[in-house]
Amino acid sequence: MSDRYLALAQSPLGRQFFSALNLPAPPRLARELQAYGPQPLAGKTALVAGVPQARHRTTLEAALRGAGASLSGDKPALLLFDASGATGPAELKPLYAFFHERLAGLPGGTHVVVIGRAPASCDSAAEAAAAGALSGFVKSLAKEIGRKGATANLVTVADGAEAWLGGALRFLLSGHAAFVTGQTLPLTPPARSLKPGDCSRPLDGKTALVTGAARGIGAAIARSLAREGAHVIGVDRPQEEAALQGTLAAFDGKPLLLDVTAADAGERIAEAAGQLDLVVHNAGVTRDKLLRNMPEHFWDMVLGINLEAIVRINEQLLAGALAPQARMVCISSIGGIAGNAGQTNYAATKSGVISYVAALAAEVGKRGMAINAVAPGFIETQMTASIPPANRFFGRRMSALLQGGLPEDIAEAVTFLGAAPLSGGVNGVTLRVCGQNWLGA
Ligand SMILES: NC(=O)c1ccc[n+]([C@@H]2O[C@H](COP(=O)([O-])OP(=O)(O)OC[C@H]3O[C@@H](n4cnc5c(N)ncnc54)[C@H](O)[C@@H]3O)[C@@H](O)[C@H]2O)c1
Repeated sequence: MSDRYLALAQSPLGRQFFSALNLPAPPRLARELQAYGPQPLAGKTALVAGVPQARHRTTLEAALRGAGASLSGDKPALLLFDASGATGPAELKPLYAFFHERLAGLPGGTHVVVIGRAPASCDSAAEAAAAGALSGFVKSLAKEIGRKGATANLVTVADGAEAWLGGALRFLLSGHAAFVTGQTLPLTPPARSLKPGDCSRPLDGKTALVTGAARGIGAAIARSLAREGAHVIGVDRPQEEAALQGTLAAFDGKPLLLDVTAADAGERIAEAAGQLDLVVHNAGVTRDKLLRNMPEHFWDMVLGINLEAIVRINEQLLAGALAPQARMVCISSIGGIAGNAGQTNYAATKSGVISYVAALAAEVGKRGMAINAVAPGFIETQMTASIPPANRFFGRRMSALLQGGLPEDIAEAVTFLGAAPLSGGVNGVTLRVCGQNWLGA
């Protein structure tokens, strides 16, 4: 479903028209859809600043150089501020000064990352107040600069997780995260055996399974994982055989026709796939109705596919089909965060996913594994094409970036969370990929 308002705003004539009428014009996002490669930030200039006691500046600068960014030059497109050493709110003044003087001429497509200490690692309530202040700051800054296609995100670093900053920056400072803004990404130390590895082709030699891979977001995820070197097995319902084969043929993926609600779905996956390094639970449906009018089978179907199947399949896979450092990624939704009239069933499953991921993280983390979720906002797929036009208009426009996302935006976030060299320090987290949609923000 094409977004005509966006297309008009980005055409030469439309730009004049939007500017004359002072209409909000969705910016063109500089998406990166190529493989990471060794230096994903090559050709970009970064500026790093921080509070006087900043803890991670040396690591940040080394990570930026390693990813190919230059640390000197005019008009930096990457702005980083390390606020991690602030022991109280008064020490945040340099944060204000640094951004205040740079926002007037901010280049379009700038990526901002603020680094903070994880509130749980703070030594005093005053330090936690300063650390907590960063979240409101970044959310507001993201809303202020979003019209330029610029993003701002916060990374919190728990003690012992500093080594994972490099992978997080490769994602958040590049076009791989063009639709991620106003979010907090918490880094925590993983099991001792996991060390940051080679970030180029981060899924080389890995076996990944994606449910609902025939079309939409699942197909984009399958393509993106294959691009980074994974051997992909795509699952979908038997009636989607042709579409599934069409998607997977492009990169020699293996189809597995299966309804994820089958009682033995996990066992059949294990049988067909062997040992898995990555499992992406993407298959999902909506059956919207106000609760008072909702037939029982709408409830059963949505709960069964979107949530019960994830729990059951993981239980079966955790019994022995997962590699020692396997990662799992589930697809939630901002609908699960905000709620929606007519979506009690869907929103229940999507908020259920968020709690499930947070709860299972500690258990799988002890085994060296990780589980995370992505909560998409309004994404241009067959699912959202069926939304009434007025709702679709507001679904797209009510966000810092003034537009809907593409399936590729979700695929990039899933690829990041599924690749241990990039996101080994992320576990139990739900990352919103929504252009900072106002729903539940
Ligand atoms: N499109 C959006 O804006 C949006 C927003 C938030 C969350 N999501 C979530 O993203 C995921 C993908 O959504 P989409 O928009 O690509 O949807 P889609 O309808 O385009 O694709 C869903 C895929 O899942 C498959 N599927 C459905 N039931 C299945 C079953 N029982 N067994 C196996 N496969 C099954 C379908 O055949 C289809 O290929 C879903 O979990 C959805 O809830 C989408």
